[in-house]
Amino acid sequence: MCGIFGIITREEQTLGPILIEAARRLSYRGYDSVGCATVAAAPPGSGTPQQQRYSAGGSIDLRKDVGCVDDVSARLNFAEMRGGRGIAQLRWATFGAPSHENAQPHLDSDGDIVGAHNGNVVNNVQMRELFLREGLTVRGTNDGETCVHAVERHFDRNGNDMLAAIRAAYDDLEGDYAFVITHRDDHRLFAIKKGSGLVAGLGGGLTCISSDLPSILPLTRRIVRIHDGEIAVLAPDSVELYSVHDGARIQSEEEYYDGPIEVAEKGGYPHFMLKEIHEEPTVAGELLHLLNSSKYVGRFLDALTTPSDRPVYFVGCGTSYHACLLGAYYWNQIAGRTAIALLAPQFIEQCGQSVGPDDVAVFVSQSGETKDVLNAVKAMRGRAGRVLGVLNVLGSTLAHASDVYLPLACGYEISVPATKTFVNQAVLFLYLAYRLAGRETAELDPLPDLLARTLEVTDAAAHDVAAYLHDWDDMYYLGYGVTHPIALEGALKLKEITYAHCEGIFSSEFKHGPLSAVRQGYPVLFITAPGDEAMMINHVNEVTTRGGRAIAIAAEDPALRANVHDYLVIPEADRFLSPILLTLPAQLISYHMSVARGIDPDRPRNLSKTLTVD
Ligand code: AGP
Repeated sequence: MCGIFGIITREEQTLGPILIEAARRLSYRGYDSVGCATVAAAPPGSGTPQQQRYSAGGSIDLRKDVGCVDDVSARLNFAEMRGGRGIAQLRWATFGAPSHENAQPHLDSDGDIVGAHNGNVVNNVQMRELFLREGLTVRGTNDGETCVHAVERHFDRNGNDMLAAIRAAYDDLEGDYAFVITHRDDHRLFAIKKGSGLVAGLGGGLTCISSDLPSILPLTRRIVRIHDGEIAVLAPDSVELYSVHDGARIQSEEEYYDGPIEVAEKGGYPHFMLKEIHEEPTVAGELLHLLNSSKYVGRFLDALTTPSDRPVYFVGCGTSYHACLLGAYYWNQIAGRTAIALLAPQFIEQCGQSVGPDDVAVFVSQSGETKDVLNAVKAMRGRAGRVLGVLNVLGSTLAHASDVYLPLACGYEISVPATKTFVNQAVLFLYLAYRLAGRETAELDPLPDLLARTLEVTDAAAHDVAAYLHDWDDMYYLGYGVTHPIALEGALKLKEITYAHCEGIFSSEFKHGPLSAVRQGYPVLFITAPGDEAMMINHVNEVTTRGGRAIAIAAEDPALRANVHDYLVIPEADRFLSPILLTLPAQLISYHMSVARGIDPDRPRNLSKTLTVD
C-alpha cells in the first residue's frame, strides 16, 4: 500500500509546502521512498492547439529518493518546488526494491508525462518486456513506471489525448491500482481508480486528489468520491468524471465533509484496529497477487531446503509466534514436512547450541525490529545457519539481516493489536506450504471473498458474545490442531485490549488441569476446523457438564450446534483456509469487548507496537 497525492492550482505558486504536508499525512502508507513533481507553465502560445486550449507547455521538476518524507524533502529541498500542478508519492515497496529509480513519481521516455501510482499492477513484468521491445525508456522495475509507460504508448496513437490514452492503458494494466498523471503540455491533472483508494477535493482556486481523505482535508472539505472504473479530470476549479469503459461523462457528486480529521484517518472507523480488520480481505488479495508473480518466492523456497532429516525453524514473538505455529501445522499437514515453531528466546535457549550451517530458520516479525527476534537472528548467524525473514516493514533491521525475505504487503499497521499482519502471515505460510506440496495455489484465490463474507456474517454475533464475556475476567479459548494457534491468538487479543485473563490451549489439554476453573456460566470458546467437530464435541461436553458456557466458532455443523450454548458461524471453507477465517470473529470479539469496557483498543495500557528492548 502506497500513497499518492495530486494538486492543480489556478495560479502558479510554491507548491512544495503543500506537497510535503500531504506526504506527511500519507506517510503511514509507506516510507521506503518519497518523491514530488511539479509542472511549471511555459510561455503562452507554445504547444499544439488542444494544448494551447489548456495553455501549458510546462516544464517538469522531479525530485525523489529512498527514505522518509522529512529526510528526503530536506535533502532535495521539496519546499522550493513551484508550479501549477504537483504530484507526491509515498512508496511501500512491493514490485522493485526501494531505490532511486523505483521511487515515484515516474517520467515517460521523453520526460513529457509524469505520474505516480498506488496498488499492484500484476502484469508488471510482461508490460515492461513489451515497453522494452517497443523501444520505450524503462528506468526501473517498479509498477508505477509501468502505469506511466502504458499511457505514453497510447498517447501519440490517440492524437495526444490524455483521456483516451488513459482509457487504452486501462485495458492493458491488470491488478488493483490508482494513479495520478499529467502531461507537461496539458494543464490538467488526470487520475484513475481501479480497486485502490482515491478521493478528490475542490478548494478556492485549487483542486486536489489523494489516496485518502486526511491528506486533502487541510486544503478543503468539499470532496468528490471517485469510484472504480472512473477517470477524474482535474482543472483548477473543477473535477470532471469520465467512464473508463465508454468515455462518457459521469455526474460527480460533491459532498461536504464536516467530521474531525482523525476520524478520516481511520477511514470512518472509530478505531484503527477495526479499520485494519476490515482491510484484511484486500491485503490478503494483494499478497496472493504478489506471491503469484514474485521471483523471490522461488528463492525463498530454495533457501528453505535442508537435508531431509533436519526440520526448519519458524521463530517469532507474540502474534507472529502464533503465525509460526500455524505455519508448522500447514507445513506438516499439507507438505508432509516438519517445521518447529519456537518463541525467539526459546529458539536461543533450546536450539542455540545445536543449529549449524545445514539449518534454516524463518524469523517472522511484522515490524522487523523486535529485539527478541533480532537476538535469535544473531544466535543463528553466530552458528552460520541460514536466516530467512517474513516481515511487513521493508527497510527494517530484519529485512537487512535476512539472506532472503518475503513481505507481508499489508501496508502500515497502526493499532497495537496485530490483526491484518497476522492474517497475511497465515496466508503466506499457507501459500508456501501449497507450493512445497506442488498443490495449485489458485485454490487459495477464494480467500479474499471468504474473508469479506466472514466479516459480514460474524460481526453481530461477535458483538453478542463480547456482551456475554464483558462480565467475566477469566476465560479460555480452546483449539485443536490447526485451530490451536488461533485459540492462542484469540486469547492474546483478548488479553491485550480487554485486560481480562484468557488462555488459549490445545482443547485436549483442558481436562489435564484447567478444567478445574469451570463453574456455572464460565465461558469457554471452542475454535473448530471442518473435520474436527467430533473431537471438539467431546471437549465441549467436559465443560458443559460442569456448568460452563460453551461458545463455538466454526462453520455450520448441526451436531456441534446441538452441544453448545452459542454458535458463531463462519462461511463453509476448506480445512486449511478455515483457521484464517476463524481468526476474524476472535479479533472482533476482543474489539467489541474492549470498546464496551471503555478501553482504546489501539493504545492498550503498558504495551507498545514495536518492542526494541530485551
Ligand atoms: C500483537 O498484537 C502484539 N502487538 C505483539 O504480541 C506482537 O505480535 C509482538 O510484539 C511481535 O511483534 P512483531 O511481529 O513486530 O515482531
